[in-house]
Amino acid sequence: MLKRTHTCGELCKDDTGESVILNGWVNTVRLHGKVIFVDLRDRYGKTQIVFNSEDYSGDFEGAKKLSMEDVLSVSGKVQARNEGAVNPDMFTGEIEVIVSEMEMLNEAAPLPFVLSDRESSEEDLRLKYRYLELRMDELQRNLMIRHETYQATRHYLSEQNFIEMETPTLMKSTPEGARDYLVPSRIHHGKFYALPQSPQIYKQILMISGFDRYFQIVKCFRDEDLRADRQPEFTQIDLEMSFIDEEDIYTTMEGLTRYIFKTVRGIDLPDPFLRVTYDEAMNIYGSDKPDLRYEITLKDVKEFTDASDFNAFKSAEVVKGLVVEGGSKYSRKIIDELTEFVKKYKAKGLAWMKGENGVLTGGISKFFSNDLQVEMRSALKINDNDIIFLIGDKKMITLNALGSLRAEIAKQEKLSNANSFVPLWVTEFPMFEFDEETNRYTAMHHPFTAPKKADFKKLDSNPLNTRSRGYDLTINGHEIAGGSIRIHQPDIQVKIFSLLGLSHKEALEKFGFLLEALKYGTPPHGGIAFGFDRLVMLLAGTENIRDVIAFPKTTSASSLMEDSPSPVSTDQLYELGIQLKKRKIED
Ligand code: AMO
Repeated sequence: MLKRTHTCGELCKDDTGESVILNGWVNTVRLHGKVIFVDLRDRYGKTQIVFNSEDYSGDFEGAKKLSMEDVLSVSGKVQARNEGAVNPDMFTGEIEVIVSEMEMLNEAAPLPFVLSDRESSEEDLRLKYRYLELRMDELQRNLMIRHETYQATRHYLSEQNFIEMETPTLMKSTPEGARDYLVPSRIHHGKFYALPQSPQIYKQILMISGFDRYFQIVKCFRDEDLRADRQPEFTQIDLEMSFIDEEDIYTTMEGLTRYIFKTVRGIDLPDPFLRVTYDEAMNIYGSDKPDLRYEITLKDVKEFTDASDFNAFKSAEVVKGLVVEGGSKYSRKIIDELTEFVKKYKAKGLAWMKGENGVLTGGISKFFSNDLQVEMRSALKINDNDIIFLIGDKKMITLNALGSLRAEIAKQEKLSNANSFVPLWVTEFPMFEFDEETNRYTAMHHPFTAPKKADFKKLDSNPLNTRSRGYDLTINGHEIAGGSIRIHQPDIQVKIFSLLGLSHKEALEKFGFLLEALKYGTPPHGGIAFGFDRLVMLLAGTENIRDVIAFPKTTSASSLMEDSPSPVSTDQLYELGIQLKKRKIED
C-alpha cells in the first residue's frame, strides 16, 4: 500500500510542487471530458485530486468508474488551482493534487443512502448503517467535541486533586429509581448481578475509605422509557467530595463547567451561575429545569378568576396565567392545538383572553367585568396584541402544564438564542414525592440524600414538606447534572429507608453493606453526576442525544446495527439455569 505522507486536510499553497501520497474515501466524483475531479476525504478534511490522461499512469477509463466511498491511495504533485477555481470555504481550497498513480484499497458497494444529506433517509436506516452515517461531517464534528470534553474534564479534575477510579459494572441490584438491567450468574444459579444505574453507593464508600475527591467518566444503565435526551446506557461524569457543603460543590462544579465550555467551544459562561429554589422554579417557570433564555413567567391569577363569573376555576387549587407578548395573532386553530398540547400534561383545558383596545376580548373574557379586566391588564401587564392563557387545577398539574406550554411557545416563537447558554442551579428539592400507584413515598433524588437540618422535625410530621440538600445544574432547559449532600449517619439513613417503606429486614437485605460501612468513621460528604451525553449535546448544538453517541440505541432500546437485544441459544440458557416463559404483554 502507498502510505500517506499527508492527511486530506492539510495541504495548502505552500506545498505547491511537493510530491505527496494521500489515502482516503471518494467523497464526490465529477467528470469533465478528459479530466476527472475527485474530492478525497478523511477525518481531517477533503482534498481535490485530479486525474488527467497525460499525468495519470494508470487506466484512465477505469478511473472514470470510481464511485462514492471507494477507498484509495493516490500519489501525485500538489498544484495551485487557477484563481477562478479556488474554494475559499475549504482549507485545501487553493490547491489540488495531480494524480500520477492510484491504488484501489477497497471498492465500496452501492450505498444504502446518500452520505451528504442526513435528512434524505430515515433514522432507522442510518442507525442500521451507523458506520456510514458516522462518516458524515456533522457526526465527525460531534464526536470530536465529545473527545475534547473527555480531555477537558480529566485535565480540570485532576488539577483539582480529584482521583479517577473505576467501580464495578457487575453489582448488587439496589433500587435507585429506575428499573435495573439484570445479568444472570452462571456460577450462582438463580442469582443476578445488576448493571449500575449509577456508581452512587460505591462512590460514597470510597469517601468512607478516605479518597476525599473521586471522579469517574462512567457508563450507567437504566431500563426506563426513553426520550430525546435519554438513553438506556449513558455516560456520567460522576464525582464525590468529603468534608464539604453545598457551596464547595457549586464552586467546584461551576469551575469545571466553565472550563469545559471555554476549552471545547471558546464560550465564556457567567461567574457565578444563577440559583433558584425548587419552589421558586416551579411557581415562576412551571419547571424544575427552566430555560431562562427567555423572560416569560407564570403569574398568579386566582384572585382575579375568583372575583370573576367564570366558575370552572373556583374550586381549583391553583390558577396561573401565562402572558404571551404579541399572542393575539393566534388563530382558533392554533389555540386548539395548544389546548391539545396542555392536555398531554393532564390539564383539562386551556382558557384564554386577548388584549385589544384597552380591554380583554375573546375566550373567557365575557365572565370578567370591565373593571376587573382593567385591573388584570395592569397587574399582569397584558398589553394590546397580547394573549393570556390560563389553567386552573391541582397545583402540580397547573404548574407542569403551563410550564410545558411556556417552553412550547418559546420553541414555536423561536424565543431562545441557540448561541446563548444560561446555567442555573435548582436547590432545595423536596425529599419525597408521593406515588399514588404504590401508595407510598419515593425519594425525589435518591434514598441517600440528606434532609435539610432545619426540616428535620418535618420528617415525622410532614414528610412531603421536608426539603433535601439536593441540587440540579440545568442549562437552557436541560438537567445537566444532579447531586446532593449525603446522609453520613447510619441512624438517619435507617430512618429514611423506613419512610420510603422499606422494612428493617428489607433495608438490611438491600443496603446492609452500606449501613454497616456508615458505622466505621464516615466523613460528611456529597457529590454530583453530570449527564455527559447531555453536556456534549449542548456543546454540539443538537437536541438529539443519539447525535453525540457513536453507537446509540433507538427509543425502544435496540441497536439496529448489530440487531440487539437478540435471542440466545438454549445451551446458554441451560448453563444459566434459565427457562423462558411466555409473558402476558399488557398494553
Ligand atoms: P441522576 O439520576 O440525577 O443522579 O443522574 C445524573 C445526570 O445523568 C443524566 N441522566 C441521563 N442522561 C441520559 N440518559 C438517561 N437515561 C439519563 N438519566 C440521567 C442527567 C442527570 O442530571 N447518582 C446520582 C448523582 C449523585 O447524586 O451524585 C445520579 O445518578 O443529566
